[in-house]
Amino acid sequence: MRGRSIEWPFLCLNLFSRFGLIPDHGQNQTNNEADHKMPQKQLPICFLNGESSNLISVIDRGLCYGHGLFETIRLSDTQMPLWDYHYQRLRKGAHTLSISLDNHLLQGYLDQLIANCPDNGIVKIMITAGRGDRGYRLSNTSPNYLLQWFPLSDYPNHYQRCGVTLKLCQHRLASSPQLAGIKHLNRLDQVIARGEWGDEYEEGLMLDQYGHVIEAVSGNLFFYRDGAWFTPKLDQCGVAGVMRQYIMEELCNLSLSSLSKIEEVTCLLDDLLSADEVFICNSVNGIWPVLSLENLVPGNPGLANQSSWSLGPQTLALQAALYKSLPAYLNSTE
Ligand SMILES: Cc1ncc(COP(=O)(O)O)c(C=O)c1O
Repeated sequence: MRGRSIEWPFLCLNLFSRFGLIPDHGQNQTNNEADHKMPQKQLPICFLNGESSNLISVIDRGLCYGHGLFETIRLSDTQMPLWDYHYQRLRKGAHTLSISLDNHLLQGYLDQLIANCPDNGIVKIMITAGRGDRGYRLSNTSPNYLLQWFPLSDYPNHYQRCGVTLKLCQHRLASSPQLAGIKHLNRLDQVIARGEWGDEYEEGLMLDQYGHVIEAVSGNLFFYRDGAWFTPKLDQCGVAGVMRQYIMEELCNLSLSSLSKIEEVTCLLDDLLSADEVFICNSVNGIWPVLSLENLVPGNPGLANQSSWSLGPQTLALQAALYKSLPAYLNSTE
């Protein structure tokens, strides 16, 4: 995984490109005079099939149909602590979407990216079904591997230390059992849900069409009630997060709490509202305790419109176990 096979000129090209010192192959070029005056977005370090490039074909099935997968991975001192889980989810998704994932190629491209980016941050892998003919019909396409590095988001550390507020999103997830769990490129539900707020909340909570609690907009959810931990079932919709899996398979055994099993349940909002403790998690930010849920009655600001929980000992015990077993997640944004 860690071979440093990339030559210096290539590395320099990348870093110069990242810091805007050389043109970025046209991606930021515009014909519009006004656009030239807009601040230019900084591009991440980016490789496409092993070449330094941020251009993808207009007939790529990932672009045309969202026919592809992605993983957003925590990079800590050149290591990806939950890589095995990310890879298993990619494999499952590739099988579902009939994408022929080549592990050998992927490992080589990852080595290349990690050798050419800072030691810490976020690695994003996108694997699309590749360039296809017009129309949905599957043809023998060869996948495109798009790998990027981003700096960690600058979320304040008190999100993980003191907790966050969620907005109950109006937009709901649709059932799609075949796609449930995998991290495919179609993320329009999350895009619409995230459009419901600006900076007023740290995250959103999403329900399905029947009012079942499913997950956060970009994370999974756990709640503690009557002496036990629960997490919503994800057999109809939602993304089966790798942090969720790690918590369920490993962390609950390492935690100082007396629990050894977390139950997957179908739950309604009332089940969540009567919980003692709640947290959300993902593989980039770790565990964020949830202190309150707002917008319970849309358009009715006021106390009845929110529910709150305390940051309790069970969540703190799980967080402590996470920091002990994967120290990368301690003070993740410092
Ligand atoms: C919709 C959704 N659910 C759950 C997660 C958590 O996944 P993971 O723990 O693999 O980061 C994410 C992460 O981005 C997500 O976007």
